[in-house]
Amino acid sequence: MGLLGLNFVMGTKILMLFMMVNTVHSIGANWGTQATHPLPPSTVVKLLKDNGIQKVKLFDAESNFLNALRGSGIEVMVGIPNDMLYTLANSPAAAERWVERNVSLHVLSNSVDIRYVAVGNEPFLSTFNGTYLSTTFPALQNIQEALIKAGIGNRVKVTIPLNADVYQSSTEQPSTGDFRPDMRDLMVEIISFMSLHAAPFTVNIYPFISLYNDANFPFDYAFFDGYSSPINDNGNIYTNVFDANYDTLVWALQKNGFGNLSIIVGEIGWPTDGDQNANMRLAQRFNQGFMSHISGNRGTPMRPGPVDAYLFSLIDEDAKSIQPGNFERHWGIFYFDGTPKYNLRLGGNLGGLIPASNVRHLPRRWCVLSPSANLQDPQVIPSVNYACSRADCTSLGYGTSCQNLNAQQNISYAFNSYYQEKNQLDSACRFPNLSVIMKNDPSVGECRFKIMIQTSNSRNGGFLSEPVNILLQVIMLWFTFL
Ligand SMILES: *[C@@H]1O[C@H](CO)[C@@H](O)[C@H](O)[C@H]1NC(C)=O
Ligand SMILES: *[C@@H]1O[C@H](CO)[C@@H](O)[C@H](O)[C@H]1NC(C)=O
Ligand SMILES: *[C@@H]1O[C@H](CO)[C@@H](O)[C@H](O)[C@H]1NC(C)=O
Ligand SMILES: *[C@@H]1O[C@H](CO)[C@@H](O)[C@H](O)[C@H]1NC(C)=O
Ligand SMILES: *[C@@H]1O[C@H](CO)[C@@H](O)[C@H](O)[C@H]1NC(C)=O
Repeated sequence: MGLLGLNFVMGTKILMLFMMVNTVHSIGANWGTQATHPLPPSTVVKLLKDNGIQKVKLFDAESNFLNALRGSGIEVMVGIPNDMLYTLANSPAAAERWVERNVSLHVLSNSVDIRYVAVGNEPFLSTFNGTYLSTTFPALQNIQEALIKAGIGNRVKVTIPLNADVYQSSTEQPSTGDFRPDMRDLMVEIISFMSLHAAPFTVNIYPFISLYNDANFPFDYAFFDGYSSPINDNGNIYTNVFDANYDTLVWALQKNGFGNLSIIVGEIGWPTDGDQNANMRLAQRFNQGFMSHISGNRGTPMRPGPVDAYLFSLIDEDAKSIQPGNFERHWGIFYFDGTPKYNLRLGGNLGGLIPASNVRHLPRRWCVLSPSANLQDPQVIPSVNYACSRADCTSLGYGTSCQNLNAQQNISYAFNSYYQEKNQLDSACRFPNLSVIMKNDPSVGECRFKIMIQTSNSRNGGFLSEPVNILLQVIMLWFTFL
């Protein structure tokens, strides 16, 4: 009897521990690589493991990433870039080769735990003008067939990461949700297919963008810590737009006969720079709020239970297009070099994020405006334009981390961005009579003047023609200026 009691207690404890570990392990992260100085894949995999991130979503299927993930135990979603959809839609053989090369090989011989293939990335986004409307579903079908043929159809599932704009609601109540009329027929075909193959629906949900696009969007409704005018949807109470958005999708699925389709939140997060609402404080509030919100496995009013989600993003990417906005390069919970930005508890690590290890920076050197330079020098404007068009100046401007810089500091920031991006080549700090290299960190308050990290390109120099190039460009710009 005593033994039985003990066993029961131990069993409960083990069960509780298991549930805790399970909760801790439920968060994923997006690992994008549109960066001029990416961390080595092995460093990123260690970063994921050190921080208890058990799932990773990639935007392609580069073998060096997959090799680094070998034996890591991390679940992987590989991706097919939109520009491959046409080929994969039109050629089952190409789909078979893609699966063979980019999935089977790694799953079967390399012990990479690939669980999903993301076919395209937000292919129905309106900015693509319908380019991928007719190819995405056929590509999905061909990849599914190829997975079955390769004998891994039960283990690896297909999905399409979609922007939440494929569905909508006529009021703020999720129960009025449905697919957008122009998308409905295609979406119903896709979800029928997904249901047939037990594939999940993947949606990217961005309360930050709601706020960015609409000055009247209720600020607190973007977050998870209470909202003064909750939305009552026939008894379901919504205090945050994430739940409401997610449940709008649940209603859309349900109305079209697939209320049980599983849902993955492919991207969710908050940027830290490049906009008045993009900063550490709000990113911390959102991401920590989201973690607490999903940690109890309460789910949403329409879908109680665990929420399967991938944070966007793991690391900043300084080469992303800023067409959506300057915030686009600042989604990381880590800076480009793997330094944590703010205190974030991802479940297990109560002490907050753990930085990347063994990261090698370039020497502590910055390129700045020479103290003797004249601000009225006609070369200043073209030089700054030159630097900022080739490097990242998205931390300058209204509402950013560097908004309080004076004119000299502004110019220095631009010069340094270019100099660092060019791996601190001497020739990249020769803005005519304007720039000088210094060894004291010119960072001001929250505004960080970066030092880049070493990459395989940065070790062996190169860029011999750079000085001539700068001078030429500056002169040319100056002529257009006249
Ligand atoms: C595998 O994926 C990579 C990266 O997306 C791609 O460049 C390559 O073409 C793919 N291989 C095949 C055989 O399709
Ligand atoms: C979509 O159309 C707009 C306006 O016609 C054009 O500027 C843009 O380049 C197009 N985008 C793509 C991806 O084709
Ligand atoms: C949906 O799931 C519920 C609970 O698991 C089940 O009772 C129901 O039959 C399912 N409905 C469909 C359409 O599969
Ligand atoms: C610094 O640069 C930003 C962005 O180019 C600009 O908006 C701001 O006015 C500049 N500040 C000063 C003091 O020149
Ligand atoms: C740099 O300054 C010197 C002295 O003021 C001047 O002679 C020279 O033309 C300047 N060079 C450039 C590229 O502006």
